[in-house]
Amino acid sequence: MVSSFIVKNPATGESIQEVPRHTEEEINQALDKGHTGFKKWSKINAHERSRLLKKWSLLIQENKEEIAKVMTMENGKPLSESNGEVNYATSYIDWYAEEALRLYGRTIPAASEAKRIVVSKQPIGLVAAITPWNFPAAMMTRKAAPALAAGCSFIVKPAEETPLTTIRLVELAHEAGIPEDAIQCVNGRGSVVGRLFTESPHVRKITFTGSTPVGKSLIKDSAETIKHVTMELGGHAPLIVAEDADIDFAVAQTLLTKFRNAGQTCVCANRILVHENIVDTFSEKFAEATKQLKVGNGLDEATDVGPIINEKGYNKIVAQVNDAISKGAEVLVGNKYDADKEKGFFFVYPTVLKNVDGSMDIMQEETFGPVAPITSFKTLEEAVEIANNTPYGLAAYFFTNDYRTGTYLHDNLDFGIIGWNDGAPSAAHAPFGGMKESGLGREGGIEGIEPYLETKYLSIGNL
Ligand code: SIN
Repeated sequence: MVSSFIVKNPATGESIQEVPRHTEEEINQALDKGHTGFKKWSKINAHERSRLLKKWSLLIQENKEEIAKVMTMENGKPLSESNGEVNYATSYIDWYAEEALRLYGRTIPAASEAKRIVVSKQPIGLVAAITPWNFPAAMMTRKAAPALAAGCSFIVKPAEETPLTTIRLVELAHEAGIPEDAIQCVNGRGSVVGRLFTESPHVRKITFTGSTPVGKSLIKDSAETIKHVTMELGGHAPLIVAEDADIDFAVAQTLLTKFRNAGQTCVCANRILVHENIVDTFSEKFAEATKQLKVGNGLDEATDVGPIINEKGYNKIVAQVNDAISKGAEVLVGNKYDADKEKGFFFVYPTVLKNVDGSMDIMQEETFGPVAPITSFKTLEEAVEIANNTPYGLAAYFFTNDYRTGTYLHDNLDFGIIGWNDGAPSAAHAPFGGMKESGLGREGGIEGIEPYLETKYLSIGNL
């Protein structure tokens, strides 16, 4: 019997489409196909690979309206954010279409006149990607574009909540002329596909965006065949507002980083630390701005904050808010919900909590929801200590116009991405990734193509 799953609109609980799961046999066939595909794709010259990637990007842009609508229907994010994500997704393809032309090797002076030393870069092989539901387009192209640019073949398993965007992107890649065995999409349960990907001797690299526990198990399973791994895992971003900060600017940027995608991003501010002398003003202004956000179906143009992806995510958010309140947090706005378990939709109204402390779950666990916990600090040293007191190390933000404060915070925060007076640092041309349990490797920028390349050293003697 063919197994399948239903993709549902998280804003209404309504079914959008039934998607068949590939069988284990079909997934193994796809892996064989990707292996053969690698042999051909890696031989296509870099200029042609670059041209095909650019064509793919153009086709995605030509179909932007349709893709954005599908994304909003399966993910729930407001249409304006989906349109923004399509641009974000093609920015990775555009960047790596150019990087394909810059896969330089080097020559090294040898210690003897009779020798030459040459170092070259070669594609690593078949790459298997597992992508999340929160950015169904951009997290896929952030992996596919550098892989294809490097000459690797690519196979992706999207999240079962949001496969439709990915399926469409892969169709458009084929339409652009990227061979069907160079980029493929398979659908199936995470545990099954993850096992087949990690067991396969054809797969030379696993790239994953998702939770830290799943990332750990993929790393473990990849060890059997010594695969390369890139892991973009969980986060618990601190956002520090120093005493001298421009409060209105900090409020606007915090709003942006906290409530984008209903707080369902790995880089969302998860702990807001404000200097004690300005915490009341900041909190008041931030709560007032939060009150203005409109919650609803992402297809409605007025919507700022869409639904939570599913019941599990919703339950976690509600539990964190209740835990914080029971331990003394004050609700400035929110703690309001619109959920129907029968129908299957779950909205959390943007919530601001004040007087939170380290004993509360929300200060330790990733929230993945539109809840902003605010606490205060006296000294920068204390702010850094609170900020670094987490196993995660993905993103951190701070607001200050004092260069000494900024430099101190930059130097002492243990996070891979730092936004200084910037709530939206992500960009295709910059390295995205975390320290500690937030992951391994970087995606984006010149760093983002390196993990798809092997270094080969040639020593020529007897000259
Ligand atoms: C993520 O949440 O995983 C990605 C967010 C981004 O690229 O800005």
